[in-house]
Amino acid sequence: MSDIYSIKFPRKVFSGDGSLSELQTIIRDVKASSVCLMTDEGIFGCGLLDGPLSYIEETGIKPMVIHDIPREPSAYAVQDYYKRLSGEKTDLIVAVGGGSVIDMAKILSVALTNEDLIEDLRRPNAITKPSVPMVAVPTTSGTGAEATANAIFLYPEEDLKVGIISEYMIPDYVILDVSMTCKLPPALTASTGVDALCHAMESYISILSNPFCKMLSLEAIRLICGSIETAYNDGGNRQAREDMQLGAFYAGLCLTTSSTVAVHALSYPLGGKYHIPHGVSNAILLPYVMRENLECCREAYTEFAPLMLSNAEQIPKAQWPQAVVDYLFSLMRTLGIPDSLREFGVHPEDLDYLTDNAVKVERLLLKNPKKLSKEDIKGIYQQLLQN
Ligand SMILES: NC(=O)c1ccc[n+]([C@@H]2O[C@H](COP(=O)([O-])OP(=O)(O)OC[C@H]3O[C@@H](n4cnc5c(N)ncnc54)[C@H](O)[C@@H]3O)[C@@H](O)[C@H]2O)c1
Ligand SMILES: [Fe+2]
Repeated sequence: MSDIYSIKFPRKVFSGDGSLSELQTIIRDVKASSVCLMTDEGIFGCGLLDGPLSYIEETGIKPMVIHDIPREPSAYAVQDYYKRLSGEKTDLIVAVGGGSVIDMAKILSVALTNEDLIEDLRRPNAITKPSVPMVAVPTTSGTGAEATANAIFLYPEEDLKVGIISEYMIPDYVILDVSMTCKLPPALTASTGVDALCHAMESYISILSNPFCKMLSLEAIRLICGSIETAYNDGGNRQAREDMQLGAFYAGLCLTTSSTVAVHALSYPLGGKYHIPHGVSNAILLPYVMRENLECCREAYTEFAPLMLSNAEQIPKAQWPQAVVDYLFSLMRTLGIPDSLREFGVHPEDLDYLTDNAVKVERLLLKNPKKLSKEDIKGIYQQLLQN
């Protein structure tokens, strides 16, 4: 555990059924007269933009609506949307979506105020000025992008996903309204929800973990593990959806004070080259990486056990760490998460490529509680290619 630690928060968070109406308070707060409302085709198609649109229009503002943000966007897509926005007056950006939409809105909100950023998103220290005010309205309960300082983009010619980090990208406002997540289909509920569980577990076991993080990650684990199966099987269950939404938000906050570790590190090449969605690749890896970390994390897994296992009291405490690993394997099966990479077009001959590229994600691997050798990493991928 490091000696000095800090945590960052969005400026204002509205939560609760119906909190979407607070969009009007936010518009008044920032004295906005021009608003850009952003989402993707999937969300637009299921009518989820109607609510935010009508709350904005009731204030007398006709927002610029962008409803085609691509899933897991590339850095090129950022440039395209920047061109569309830079000629317009934008006092407030409202992002309604999952991590893909929120990340796009986050980077655009700083690109509009940091002139040269758009030429090279990766240039170190390019973000020096606060963003255009931004609201995140998450519609998945997954990435926690509504809480974090990161935005992730694909560089297709390099087969690489890159995280851009700046505190100026923490959304100013967040609205956690459960009605925005109830239509999320089961498979997306499962994969995005397990991404949130990864954030909670990984940040707890990270070498950067600290009391702020532990408090939030334990509560996130309790909320997510207590509701994910219900949300998956019965999407209309509002209590389960509310717990998932809060859990994902808390887990996102954990990432502002700690970090993800080897699950996310090994996931990067799977997203970069094989375009496996972020939540899916993390979910496939989670039980395997947590099993690899078992001996280094017995204490942490003992903390997790009563929050994850309905029958913890019937199991001797010494067996709780192993029971946590078993639970993760069984949860992935229940949620229909694949147990193999082969169905995504990854083949045994790709093993060296995957290993070499995961090893490069030092930023996260160095924070993993167990120092993973190249052979350890290869071994994890190998298991997922044998199945
Ligand atoms: N900024 C961060 O801190 C952070 C952290 C992790 C991942 N990410 C990034 O976030 C992206 C993934 O985001 P995600 O997992 O939230 O998924 P997503 O935003 O890519 O959305 C996945 C799909 O779900 C659909 N969808 C979303 N909400 C819906 C709803 N309520 N009802 C029906 N359909 C809905 C969308 O239309 C889309 O097709 C990746 O690019 C990943 O790299 C960002
Ligand atoms: Fe993630």
